[in-house]
Amino acid sequence: MPSAAVTDRWSIKNTPVMEQEQFELWQALLEERTGMTLSQERKTFLETSLSIRMRELAITDYETFYEQLVAGSTESKAMEWSVLVDRLTVQETSFFRHAGSYALVEEYVQGFIANAKSGESLDVWSVGCSTGEEPYSLGMLISEQYKQQNIAKAYFGITATDISLPTLGKARRGVYAARKVEHVDPRLREEYFQRLNDREYQVADSLRDRVCFARLNVMDLARAPMQDMDIIFCQNMLIYFRRWRKKQIVTRLAERLSVGGLLVLGPGEVTDFHHPDLERVPFADSLAFRRCKG
Ligand SMILES: C[S@@+](CC[C@H](N)C(=O)[O-])C[C@H]1O[C@@H](n2cnc3c(N)ncnc32)[C@H](O)[C@@H]1O
Repeated sequence: MPSAAVTDRWSIKNTPVMEQEQFELWQALLEERTGMTLSQERKTFLETSLSIRMRELAITDYETFYEQLVAGSTESKAMEWSVLVDRLTVQETSFFRHAGSYALVEEYVQGFIANAKSGESLDVWSVGCSTGEEPYSLGMLISEQYKQQNIAKAYFGITATDISLPTLGKARRGVYAARKVEHVDPRLREEYFQRLNDREYQVADSLRDRVCFARLNVMDLARAPMQDMDIIFCQNMLIYFRRWRKKQIVTRLAERLSVGGLLVLGPGEVTDFHHPDLERVPFADSLAFRRCKG
């Protein structure tokens, strides 16, 4: 616990001002490790986020904290980094967030099921899945498609990855505030959620069992085990990255698609992107590519 003297010095009002040189060091560290660029306008946000954590650790200046993060023992650095990443990343998300993208996935899944060989599975990857609303939405949509085509045994699985461990913990629990779940179509809500109390719902086990959550930093995609995915869904994460890095990540994601597989990004998230194995999918209000060559 920090001493009383330290706590006094660290009242919220006294968040220390960060020198520009220090800010640039933090910006570079964050970008190198997460891909995220932190604009000058977010300096106050960085100061506040770091200060809260420094106060918990009784560290009084940004420089000491920086040194600890880059030079401490591997285990303590990793733990500390994971707490910070969780504070500095934007985790905002919702069920069926972007209607156009889900409409495209629905059309793709209809075609996939209609042409699937017996027992062929549909493999889906939600990249930057945050607290789970995105992979669970994909799961509901796909389950519904199997039902509509009267296929009793649905063969599909969703891998959902994110850099933030606390966020993944929330996603695995699948407990959401009622105000978030109340936007979901009542029929789906009835089928895929159970009400825990007047404030919360939990995702039904049948849907949770379809999703496998794992930690993955997209900066390490070269080492990721995913292969031959039929759908890769990656939205509202690349917006924080530089243009060249977005293209590099999208190229790596494309390599993880099966031939015929679909890569769905957020509209406008990547511009001027061309890949010899991908063709743009012309579908209203969406940005998506299909892998046309092996
Ligand atoms: C704004 S949320 C988007 C959630 C969801 N895809 C959506 O569209 O609603 C961005 C997510 O990307 C994750 N993220 C940020 N940098 C990442 C990285 N380098 N690797 C993996 N995930 C990352 C954050 O932790 C956060 O959960």
